[in-house]
Amino acid sequence: MLMQVLVTGGAGFIGSHMVDRLVEEGAEVVVVDNLSRGCHDNINKKAKFYNLDISHPSFLDWIKDLRFDCVFHLAAQTNVMNSIMDPYKDAAVNILGSINVLKGCVLAGVRKIIYSSSAAVYGNPCTLPIKEDHPLNANSGYGISKKASEVYFEFFNQNYGIDYTILRYANVYGPRQCSTGEGGVIGVFLRQMLDGVPPVIFGDGLQTRDFIYVEDVCEANLAAVNNGSCSVFNISSGISTSIKDLFDIIAGLCRFSLPPEYKEARPGDIHHSVLDNSKAREHLNWKASTTLLEGLQRTLTYIQEQEISV
Ligand SMILES: NC(=O)c1ccc[n+]([C@@H]2O[C@H](COP(=O)([O-])OP(=O)(O)OC[C@H]3O[C@@H](n4cnc5c(N)ncnc54)[C@H](O)[C@@H]3O)[C@@H](O)[C@H]2O)c1
Repeated sequence: MLMQVLVTGGAGFIGSHMVDRLVEEGAEVVVVDNLSRGCHDNINKKAKFYNLDISHPSFLDWIKDLRFDCVFHLAAQTNVMNSIMDPYKDAAVNILGSINVLKGCVLAGVRKIIYSSSAAVYGNPCTLPIKEDHPLNANSGYGISKKASEVYFEFFNQNYGIDYTILRYANVYGPRQCSTGEGGVIGVFLRQMLDGVPPVIFGDGLQTRDFIYVEDVCEANLAAVNNGSCSVFNISSGISTSIKDLFDIIAGLCRFSLPPEYKEARPGDIHHSVLDNSKAREHLNWKASTTLLEGLQRTLTYIQEQEISV
């Protein structure tokens, strides 16, 4: 049974779903977010919210007198393009911010911290499906900062005994996703088709991705509270879907009949990516249970309901 928990980045896309799920579990949830990308309306009313920057020294002053059983660390600079343009800023939030959160966890007597990492740590895959022991060839500031933070989790475990689990997500999608982040292609396609605009496919559309529904990601975080000590897990559907097939499925759901617009492939785009999730299935006793069609339908319904309520 979870008592008092902290969710960093709890106003963001995945973090806000995590907060909802923890509230449902009966946990007392505290959210820290600086709203640089997240939004106040996303935060569950039963959670306590603090507008703080995880990378600022005042975060340590704030946390030092508090007690948390468990911390879910999701706050991050999540824009891959920005990390390539400004790796310094990315590292300040993703590496120094994570170190600050880890220091805070030592002060707050935290038993376990669960870290949201990314498939971006693998870079261009050498073998598919990607297993956790695949070389870490990150090719963006974001992938590098996620990889560096993972090492600091090991370091804090060795030096301060804090337990941790690292979850490397594939492309997460679902309600509340900002259409410009990682995995944002689904949000972009849905938005554009609802507006009657043909979405752009970069390249031939045969490039593949592994899409995982946000609620499945939250279940993986919950499963990690009492499992997967000091280990790393891929959190994915394990299914590769081409961008062209994704377009067709979403077009079917939106009853959109125009063809996509094709543009030249973007430099650095990975051609194929699919993560092997067998380690998580075995050791976290977790599995992705939402099909792509179900997840897309729920995301579409959310967007349509949002439009009606505005
Ligand atoms: N969405 C994906 O497909 C995906 C894939 C792999 C990994 N992840 C990881 O999952 C986590 C959540 O991602 P998301 O998609 O929900 O992104 P998001 O951008 O919606 O959420 C990140 C949150 O962190 C907050 N934040 C940023 N800098 C902060 C700071 N200095 N102090 C406090 N809060 C700060 C933002 O305001 C935002 O609410 C991130 O760590 C991300 O790297 C996401």
